[in-house]
Amino acid sequence: MGQLKVIARLLAVQLAAGLWLFILVLIASKWLEPPFADHWLLLGWLFGAALFSWPLKSLWRGVSLIIPLFVYGWFALAIAPIWGLVIALVLWLVYRNGAGHQVPFYRSSTDVITALRIWLDESSPRASGLRLADMGCGDGRLLFNLADHPVLSTLYGYETAWLPYWLARWRLFTWQKRHPGKSASKIQLVRQDFWQQDWGAFDLVYVYLSPAVMAKVAEKAGQGLQQQAWLVSYEFAISEQDCAAHHLTLTDVWELGETDPTRLYWYQKSV
Ligand SMILES: C[S@@+](CC[C@H](N)C(=O)[O-])C[C@H]1O[C@@H](n2cnc3c(N)ncnc32)[C@H](O)[C@@H]1O
Repeated sequence: MGQLKVIARLLAVQLAAGLWLFILVLIASKWLEPPFADHWLLLGWLFGAALFSWPLKSLWRGVSLIIPLFVYGWFALAIAPIWGLVIALVLWLVYRNGAGHQVPFYRSSTDVITALRIWLDESSPRASGLRLADMGCGDGRLLFNLADHPVLSTLYGYETAWLPYWLARWRLFTWQKRHPGKSASKIQLVRQDFWQQDWGAFDLVYVYLSPAVMAKVAEKAGQGLQQQAWLVSYEFAISEQDCAAHHLTLTDVWELGETDPTRLYWYQKSV
């Protein structure tokens, strides 16, 4: 399941559980005198969360139960407000682009990395020295998992959120220790806004962003992408209208994963 969908469903579960608790309290107050003890309210909320998260995978059912416990624990332990500030700061360091660019940080799955490796393997008889760019590279997971592929000459990662960027920097530091010499410069991390970059400098442009920016991706790729280059988008497609308006062709769609399939969309400039 896409991570945006997961977040939306987790929120929906908590809203439904809150509504359920409200109805329970209304019904119970006909027979019992409020206010009700905290632990009964918590139990009702947990029951609602368990009920409404039933269609989700077991991992997300577990998270749905942890959220009420976390909120209850926070208030019960009267945690100092400064910790709220610390959490807000950490969230900003990780997710600042969620607010500024409508693209929060979450990572590509292993399925994507495997799929791209397959594509690179298939390309190897024809191509070499390919330049790949991950626009919004997060902690660099994709880059570091593809860096050893011989078809790639350079992998560029653009990122502006502080914490993912510094995680990627740390990974680069350890990676360079393990790969001294020429290949040390194979990965280039740049703390810059990818909308300000020239997308024409790459053979393979990878994006895992959000539905809100796909029209802008189409415009940017339409302007910048070279004729033989590829734009690969994970999970989020460009609309037919935007493809037509910016002279892009959807050349392939790969379905990844079996239990919960996601998609990889392949685009090239129209000829
Ligand atoms: C969904 S994450 C994908 C991370 C990584 N590409 C991956 O697949 O694992 C998108 C990333 O893009 C970054 N981002 C969003 N807008 C950006 C911008 N204009 N310039 C640079 N990074 C940006 C976010 O901070 C976030 O880390």
